[in-house]
Amino acid sequence: MSLPAAGGIDVLVSEVGPRDGLQNARQFMPTEAKCGWIDAAVAAGLREIEVCSFVPPKLIPQMVDAEQVSRHALGHPGLTVAALAPNLKGAARAMGVGVHKITLPISVSRRHSLANVRRTTEEAIAEAGRICAARDALPPDSRPRIEAGLSTVFGCTIEGRVDEEQVVRDAVACVEAGVDEVGLADTTGMANPEQVRRVFRKVRAAIGDRLGGAHLHNTRGFGLANVVAALEADVRTFDSSLAGLGGCPFAPGATGNIVTEDLVFMLEEMGLRTGIDLDRLLAIRALLRAAIPEEPLYGYVAGLDAGSRTSMCEARGVRP
Ligand code: COA
Ligand code: ZN
Repeated sequence: MSLPAAGGIDVLVSEVGPRDGLQNARQFMPTEAKCGWIDAAVAAGLREIEVCSFVPPKLIPQMVDAEQVSRHALGHPGLTVAALAPNLKGAARAMGVGVHKITLPISVSRRHSLANVRRTTEEAIAEAGRICAARDALPPDSRPRIEAGLSTVFGCTIEGRVDEEQVVRDAVACVEAGVDEVGLADTTGMANPEQVRRVFRKVRAAIGDRLGGAHLHNTRGFGLANVVAALEADVRTFDSSLAGLGGCPFAPGATGNIVTEDLVFMLEEMGLRTGIDLDRLLAIRALLRAAIPEEPLYGYVAGLDAGSRTSMCEARGVRP
């Protein structure tokens, strides 16, 4: 555990709910509610939010307002506004709005790649190269950070086992294509802690500080155990989703992301600073309940009474 995150925090929690959480939601969340969620998340101390994906609205109608939501988020000084883009067209839209970070989903599972982006993994990496060339054509101060979000790294519900050496080869190929960082995603929630520790270490050995964060799902309930394993492999950035919303519509059986509230609580209890106010974070659940009442909200810490969770944190001296 040796790599401190910047800005007076130890771990960067990157909220992906407005993208990963909503892409699978049955109900459309009105634009105003999405913007309200982002505002409340910033007020709670979140420093990075993946606010949308730039995908064809016909395919994922929930993301029809991607430009509007991004522009709203960009009004928050100091917030890193991230977005997902599956192809050059999506990345061009994201660059047009001026988001700070663009995540490109690149599946290690060859069959998931075809299901998700209708391209082979090799074609997706070649597209990443074209996106990086488009980034490089921008003036230096308006270039977004490009992340290859390697997905189905730890297992695939379509293909089964995923070869770890293939993960390493794909990570290297993404770096050669020009991406700034490579994050590793357990899209399906099939990872176990031993595997997480091992694979992050292997990829770090191959690409060094180009290794980005961990994107974990909680399908089998291993999510927070996998966070601890990733911490042991010096990972300091974690994606998570408020109330554990989420899941890939093109990975059958995958359920929600790890729960932001539980992640923050666990990290703070471990003495790792996130800069996030847990009470304010928990209060945002009411906004979700009102805007998308049909979606189940997950998480353990939300069920604890305020007294016990405050005293636990304060006793450890990690709360302001
Ligand atoms: N934004 C808006 N429109 C887009 C677009 C984008 N990023 N990419 C393509 N389109 C439009 C094209 O202009 C074309 O429009 P037309 O029919 O009016 O001419 C249409 O969509 C089809 O384009 P095509 O390039 O043939 O795309 P495709 O049908 O092969 O789909 C992807 C490829 C990558 C766009 C699609 O599979 C996708 O968005 N996948 C991501 C799914 C996802 O978000 N998964 C969860 C997150 S990991
Ligand atoms: Zn995900």
